[in-house]
Amino acid sequence: MRVAVFRRAHFNAAHRLHNPNWDEARNREVFGKCNYPNYHGHNYELEVKVTGEVDPDTGYVVDLGWLSKLIETEVEERFDHKNLNIDVPEFQGRLTSAENIAVVIWNLLRAQLHERYDLHVRLYETPRNFVEYPA
Ligand code: NI
Repeated sequence: MRVAVFRRAHFNAAHRLHNPNWDEARNREVFGKCNYPNYHGHNYELEVKVTGEVDPDTGYVVDLGWLSKLIETEVEERFDHKNLNIDVPEFQGRLTSAENIAVVIWNLLRAQLHERYDLHVRLYETPRNFVEYPA
């Protein structure tokens, strides 16, 4: 009996989309406002989905208190109130798009989650713009 459990989390962070291999004009053309030189912030909303068998001893797929703590440690403490471009080593040499942030978050959580679970993350950069990984 496989069931999916979800946990929502939140962090605020600053970023800037800028491809160092392009000139300023090309960066502005592709990234628009997200290329402004002095960075800007987003209120990121994260949804973490863990799928697995229900443990007959607990009735849980995974303890949500544990999952909540894991997200706090791996994601919120790393990203919240940070400048993703400058402060977070995982984004050195990697564009801080919602797509890449979702992949980084998935990798951080996946490393701490037993292989018997499936993991999906959905990241909202705005209420209307969001990404999911794996697709
Ligand atoms: Ni942005």
